[in-house]
Amino acid sequence: MNSKEIRKKYFDFFNKKNHRIVLSAPLVIKDDPSLLFTNAGMNQFKSFFLGDNNPEYTRLVNSQKCLRVSGKHNDLEEVGVDTYHHTMFEMLGNWSFGDYFKKEAIEWSWELLVDVYQLNPDQIYITFFGGDKSDGLSSDIEAYDHWKKIVDEKHILACDKKDNFWEMGNTGPCGPCSEIHIDLRDEKERKKKPGIELVNKDHPQVIEVWNLVFMEYNRKADGSLIPLSKKHIDTGMGLERLCMIIQNKKSNYDTDVFMPMIRKVEEISGLSYKINSNNKNEELINIAIRVVVDHIRAISFSIADGQLPSNNGAGYVIRRILRRAVRYGYQDLQLKEPFLYQLVAILADQFAGVFSEINKQKSFIEKVIFEEETSFYRTLEHGLKRIEQVCGSLKKNHQKQIPGKDVFELYDRFGFPVDLTSLIASRNNITIDEIGFNDALDLQKKRSKADAESEKSDWEILFKDDKEEFIGYDYLESEIKITRHRTIVEKGKKSFQLVFNYTPFYPEGGGQIGDVGYIQNGEQKVYIIDTKKENDLILHITSELPKNIESTFKAVVDQNKRELICNNHTATHLLHNALREILGSHVEQKGSLVNDEYLRFDFSHFEKVSEEQLSNIESLVNKKVRSNIPLQEQRNIPLSKAKEMGAMMLFGEKYGDVVRVIKFGDSVELCGGIHVPSTSTIGNFKILSESSIAAGVRRIEAVSSVVADHYYKDQLEIVKQVNQLLKSPDNTVKAVKELLEMNSSLQKKIEKLNKEKSGDLIDELLNEVEQINGINFIAKKINIENALIKDLAFKIKEKVKDLYLVIGSELNGKALLTVMISSELVKEKNLHAGNIVNELAVEIGGRGGGQPFFATAGGKDVNGIDLALKKAKKLIS
Ligand code: SER
Repeated sequence: MNSKEIRKKYFDFFNKKNHRIVLSAPLVIKDDPSLLFTNAGMNQFKSFFLGDNNPEYTRLVNSQKCLRVSGKHNDLEEVGVDTYHHTMFEMLGNWSFGDYFKKEAIEWSWELLVDVYQLNPDQIYITFFGGDKSDGLSSDIEAYDHWKKIVDEKHILACDKKDNFWEMGNTGPCGPCSEIHIDLRDEKERKKKPGIELVNKDHPQVIEVWNLVFMEYNRKADGSLIPLSKKHIDTGMGLERLCMIIQNKKSNYDTDVFMPMIRKVEEISGLSYKINSNNKNEELINIAIRVVVDHIRAISFSIADGQLPSNNGAGYVIRRILRRAVRYGYQDLQLKEPFLYQLVAILADQFAGVFSEINKQKSFIEKVIFEEETSFYRTLEHGLKRIEQVCGSLKKNHQKQIPGKDVFELYDRFGFPVDLTSLIASRNNITIDEIGFNDALDLQKKRSKADAESEKSDWEILFKDDKEEFIGYDYLESEIKITRHRTIVEKGKKSFQLVFNYTPFYPEGGGQIGDVGYIQNGEQKVYIIDTKKENDLILHITSELPKNIESTFKAVVDQNKRELICNNHTATHLLHNALREILGSHVEQKGSLVNDEYLRFDFSHFEKVSEEQLSNIESLVNKKVRSNIPLQEQRNIPLSKAKEMGAMMLFGEKYGDVVRVIKFGDSVELCGGIHVPSTSTIGNFKILSESSIAAGVRRIEAVSSVVADHYYKDQLEIVKQVNQLLKSPDNTVKAVKELLEMNSSLQKKIEKLNKEKSGDLIDELLNEVEQINGINFIAKKINIENALIKDLAFKIKEKVKDLYLVIGSELNGKALLTVMISSELVKEKNLHAGNIVNELAVEIGGRGGGQPFFATAGGKDVNGIDLALKKAKKLIS
């Protein structure tokens, strides 16, 4: 069975048991500040577990793209070193929201593994939660009893909280779990030592395959557990491991999921992946190949979901993963130029029809990876030079160890792994200070932890409400009640988050910033300084907690600001459409920001947008603005219908079964944002800039309505001022051109005059040659520009043999000495212009230096020039 068939059988099995098949959520999380990436199948369902939102279907099945590279679940350092951890992996999951519980989850998991996938029951072991005193939880006898009916008791064991109590993070939904493990050793080995003794012992052949979580609790910030209102099932089974088991392989990497890419890396590097090698060097190659074929998946899927490598947040994590892959390729596979991008085509083929986002954006992903690799290779080269420098200066000082802070700089700034630094150093007979390095690393970790830390109190629930509703599409004001609130302390600053039963406040999302405004009760007015979303909750942020918090408030959105935002949001849709019309349908949105001041739109396009194209795009948007196209909004229409309407969907966005469509003429987009009632409200649209922000991604910044008016006013004011300066000419452009032409002709005249002057000066200087001890000595004070002096000195050198020339000059209150010496004198008389000028510079209170035949010195004391010239003569007399 290949991986596609294995995935399909999982879907079919649960589909037959009335589970609805749903899409994977995007890898990059946009509406949960506590997570950067989806790290478990349950992330997208968090609000269903907590009861903050009710699901439309109570049974779901899917394959979720997960990334475990940061936060509580972080496997990065294991990846490649072992054969069963991954950065990005697919998690097959079946879900029950308050529907079936332990019995069905347990029975069905067994049925699927044993009857459908035909695994051998003798090789399967089950763990269940053995209880935990500190949490006051007893052993999960219920799960044990269900298992006992289908599995030999000798194959069931109780484990502690670490292995059998699943938690999403420090807070949030959690519960006891049962894990299904499989013993993949051969029969002989299995007879020698029972598999049960190797469960949860990090044995590479006795591994967990499926985790059945019985979600029953919510972990609060104070560490306590509160039972959830309903009990749920969350299961997760790594597809790559399952493939290994079913395909009877010893490692995930030997399956059809990774093998095609491994073959490609072998082809690129000319090295071989040796399955089960015990040779140390071969294993280093194996590890590097595993790292590369694992990491390319995480990188490609993140880029496909809209996350470009960058310097912060999720983008930085992706950049580090990419660099880790390149480093392994560089170090152990001897790949000295970009190679990762060549694997994208294989991924695109592999996932066609499953996760088609890779195939659809193949060339874009390749280009982004290629550029990122190219720039990292440059960084590596700089790092190599830096190591050589450090080793060089250590050797000079007879030192034998690179200090920890330098090793850390190489690691942090140049992306050099410590072992690579150590290897290069050892070739120079130098060691590295590992303890110092670890100290610097710890310090950095502590610092970034402290920076990132924010303290959240638990929610104080005031009223139980089914769903806090957003009514901001239709209202800017409403009577509301606060249903819950909590306190946040971030970098020592306290703020409050309030949730309302109804809210007219738009929470930041889809590029549009959050609304601001206030809530009022009698005399008391509390300002809402921002509105954000966390899963399905709309959080209103304030700097004070309202008094009489349980009473009714009037909630009012800042209308002026909201209208400016709407103008920019609709203008963004019109811009998107105009870009596709003028540049082509390859243009895909890659990011956007819409606020009350301007709009920013990032899109895929491989070259600079020309001035003419920009002007056409701007005109087209303005034409649409003036056509006064009315908004056609369709809320809650099925996704399939929206697709039929040709609505533009974005990669990396999470869409439900029902969506909202925003249509302005031929611009049709799926969008949750707020728009103008008709386009003429926008008034005016002006593009301010076009630039590149990453490989294959361009950015346009623009303004609309009153902000665009201000822009034009400012520009007119500049023209007015220029006209005033030019004394109101009939034609401003012509007048400025004339001014520039006059300027350049004056420049030319000056240059000509200077040349003539320098010709005269040559004659003058030639007349002043003094012969002293076989040296043709000239010393003179001439006040002309520095560049001319140099020119003069070189010309005299061509004309006079055995020359020793010293020119002193005074310009803008500063003294300059120039010394020129013929090469024969440098050799024969051991004269050195650099040394001489330095000696002479003492007289002008300055310093200088240069080459043996030409050198200059500057100083403040212009009165010392004559003394310097005299001293120059003395030196050879
Ligand atoms: N949430 C559990 C896990 O991630 C099961 O899906 O392992």
